[in-house]
Amino acid sequence: MSLVKLLKKKNKKILFTTPSHAQKNIIYKPLKSLYKIDISETDAHNPTEALLKAQERARKIYKTNSTSFLTNGSTSGIIAAVLTCTNPGEKVLIWRDSHPCHLNAVRLAGAIPIYYDVEIDEEWGVPLETSCKMIENYLNAYDIKTLIVTSPTYEGIVSDIRKLKAICEKHNVYLIVDEAHGALYPFSERLPESATQIADFTIQSLHKTAGGLNPTALLHCNCNLKVEKALKMINTTSPSYPLLASIEENINYLNSWWGKRKLDQLLDELEILREECNNCEFFGDDITKILVRVPELTGPELSEILFEEFNIEDEKTNEKSTMLLCGIGTNKKNLHKLKNALLSL
Ligand SMILES: Cc1ncc(COP(=O)(O)O)c(C=O)c1O
Repeated sequence: MSLVKLLKKKNKKILFTTPSHAQKNIIYKPLKSLYKIDISETDAHNPTEALLKAQERARKIYKTNSTSFLTNGSTSGIIAAVLTCTNPGEKVLIWRDSHPCHLNAVRLAGAIPIYYDVEIDEEWGVPLETSCKMIENYLNAYDIKTLIVTSPTYEGIVSDIRKLKAICEKHNVYLIVDEAHGALYPFSERLPESATQIADFTIQSLHKTAGGLNPTALLHCNCNLKVEKALKMINTTSPSYPLLASIEENINYLNSWWGKRKLDQLLDELEILREECNNCEFFGDDITKILVRVPELTGPELSEILFEEFNIEDEKTNEKSTMLLCGIGTNKKNLHKLKNALLSL
């Protein structure tokens, strides 16, 4: 039975179990419907088995060796991946400016971080792709066990994951791809290729671009290692079944005709915006991240005008450019407002 269906089933037993709200004592009223489906893993309907089956179905959708549902963000997936493939004292090659969870993962594994840098595009003020040649030089110089690459970057720059994987294979190195910002990639050929079927481990935040609730995410594994032990070490023994069910439903939606059509429509709108706003310049490999620059304006100036005059808040700004993040939930009306704002500059 799916997790979603299981949560719909009423448990007719008189509950002397956790959670102690017993689905009836609603302390925080706005979350009433959440309390109603907040069961514990010991519930008579056996949610643990339903979770395993849901993850198995997800594995088939993503065509991976395993796909694990995460309710503590990509952060927990990256930590679990590093713990799975790295022993204490081994070296992990990480980007110096990566998300803090990369270094935390290395520390928790008792491993040694070796840092690489990526080139910054001076005109756009954003980090560029991870250079394969530079990585190969590191792998020749150090005895590296694991490489972590962020692709796409926050701003939508994608690295050559196939080539990096080939280099890693040559050197017997595990490749972990932080695809936190690329959870839509497996669902459209109009987006960059996902690492899910290439890297040893790929981690995606559903909550960032794929319409998921905070902090739902996925850990995909393609090597013959098992991630369960590491996940057990860092996760609670009382997972949120409503969040887990939302992951199941989220994947089904993205993989459905409806979800794919919604994504296609979003991509159509984004292409139109880029074409029509010919007073602006755009950059990056991922059209869902509108990395934009307007001649004569600095990034902060553009950000301020959008915020103060048009009521539009961007995701990230640097000295040169501004990035507005779009995802499956971005609506057409708001994109039109953004387009008109950009056109008026
Ligand atoms: C590149 C990158 N990796 C990992 C993370 C962590 O993701 P989460 O918030 O899902 O734990 C973030 C969060 O902002 C991120 O930007």
